[in-house]
Amino acid sequence: MIEIDTSKPHPARMYDWYLGGKDNYPVDEAMGKQMLALDPRVPVMAQVNRAFMHRATRWLAKSGVRQFLDIGTGIPTEPNLHQIAQQIAPDARVVYCDNDPIVLAHAAALLRGTDEGTTEYLQADVRSPAAIVEGAKKVLDFSRPVALSLIALLHFVSDEDGAHELVSRLLSELPSGSYLVVTHATADFTPEESRAATEKLKAAGVTLALRSREEFTRFFAGLELVEPGVEVPHHWHPELGEPVPGQDDGVIPGYGAVGRKP
Ligand SMILES: C[S@@+](CC[C@H](N)C(=O)[O-])C[C@H]1O[C@@H](n2cnc3c(N)ncnc32)[C@H](O)[C@@H]1O
Repeated sequence: MIEIDTSKPHPARMYDWYLGGKDNYPVDEAMGKQMLALDPRVPVMAQVNRAFMHRATRWLAKSGVRQFLDIGTGIPTEPNLHQIAQQIAPDARVVYCDNDPIVLAHAAALLRGTDEGTTEYLQADVRSPAAIVEGAKKVLDFSRPVALSLIALLHFVSDEDGAHELVSRLLSELPSGSYLVVTHATADFTPEESRAATEKLKAAGVTLALRSREEFTRFFAGLELVEPGVEVPHHWHPELGEPVPGQDDGVIPGYGAVGRKP
């Protein structure tokens, strides 16, 4: 029996609400509305983030990557990462991972139509990297390159929980030619709204660890950044997807980047 806590908002369900999904509860909608009151463009930000995932996955699959480890997967929203990767490379293998029981509840729907052993779901917390690596190895060959995708995840992991160390630990398991893909919210562009959002979420029991450009870039220490480097997400290879309606240069208080392990 999967226990869903509907007494407080959850990031996966709020994100689903921003994207127009149905897998959220009144508590998520209420907090989502508070975020919208601070900045009405939050749903566009969610779509822009999702569109970055589409483009980065396309770029990686076209560059020859055939293995993906996606932590902080979220509630399924089509197209999902495996659908994009496997459209370009039908032999691509994908392991999804999230710690929220609502994502587990949707795992069967997420994996529908996939071949056994090519796409799997792992219920785990990014703060337990050893468990993730052990589970992922059942599907992925860690002697060959893996794209580690942490999209809109790390701003839910505090420095106290060792966000940078966790990323280094996961990367240390991957061979040369592997990639790191990250998007992350920042307070760099909208400090007042960001501070208010962080406080509201904290009062509701949700950690939001916004990071500066410098702190974001540190996730890629020791990696070669893929052109154009650290960017606002909609400026990263826009030619690989359709623009999201309503996006403009002021819209995304976040960063996105892809780095290759030498
Ligand atoms: C904003 S959603 C992003 C979903 C998807 N990656 C995307 O960008 O479209 C963040 C996801 O991270 C998950 N998450 C938050 N903290 C986590 C943790 N400590 N371990 C694993 N997943 C976590 C949430 O449950 C949620 O599904």
